Amino acid sequence: MLVSPSIISSDLAHLETEIRKCENAGSDSFHLDVMDGHFVPNLTMGPDLVKAISKTTDLQLDAHLMVDRPDKYYRRFVDAGSRTILIHQESPVNTMALIRKLQSEGIEYGMVINPDTGFESVKPFLDEAGMLLVMSVYPGFSGQKFIESVLPKVKEARNYIDENGLKAKIEIDGGINDETGKMAVEAGVDILVSASYIFSKDTEKRIKILKSLTR
Ligand code: DX5
Ligand code: ZN
Repeated sequence: MLVSPSIISSDLAHLETEIRKCENAGSDSFHLDVMDGHFVPNLTMGPDLVKAISKTTDLQLDAHLMVDRPDKYYRRFVDAGSRTILIHQESPVNTMALIRKLQSEGIEYGMVINPDTGFESVKPFLDEAGMLLVMSVYPGFSGQKFIESVLPKVKEARNYIDENGLKAKIEIDGGINDETGKMAVEAGVDILVSASYIFSKDTEKRIKILKSLTR
């Protein structure tokens, strides 16, 4: 399984050490939770921190933009070293116009859907997407409980992506640990995002546990 540690729960005072642990354990990318205090009731990292992270690792950086205006801010995160821009379906912007803009600039994008957002609504944006991120908690905070009722949506997405031969990888984010990760993998995800489970204790061991999960 592919694993993408969410940096925000790492020991930020020892960021480089944390990044190295993740790399040594075989992490496939890093997940950057960007929150603006409007779209979600929390504030996290800005482009300067992303820049510092990108100087420290060669792994791919995915910017999960939990902001009201992804159209206004994506470029700052790309310039700071993010490879993929993850756009919430729920963001109050013209999604198609934003996707066209990203594509015209050669930037890879992914779509994100909240637990209450149906898969149907994201279909029109999936043809060229590199990723579909299914939220398994309400965005805003690490350490929340996995919402199991999103699993049928993962299965629906898996079938649709396979039947239509789309390139989008399915990623899941929120409450992922060894048990919920297994459930998500069985439902059809390709990438597990995890923050509190892997950074609270035994980081390398826990990343390896998630990596060893198979469908
Ligand atoms: C939630 C974020 C998640 C979060 C995951 O708003 O998008 O990426 O950091 O944290 P855990 O793995 O602790 O649920
Ligand atoms: Zn996230």
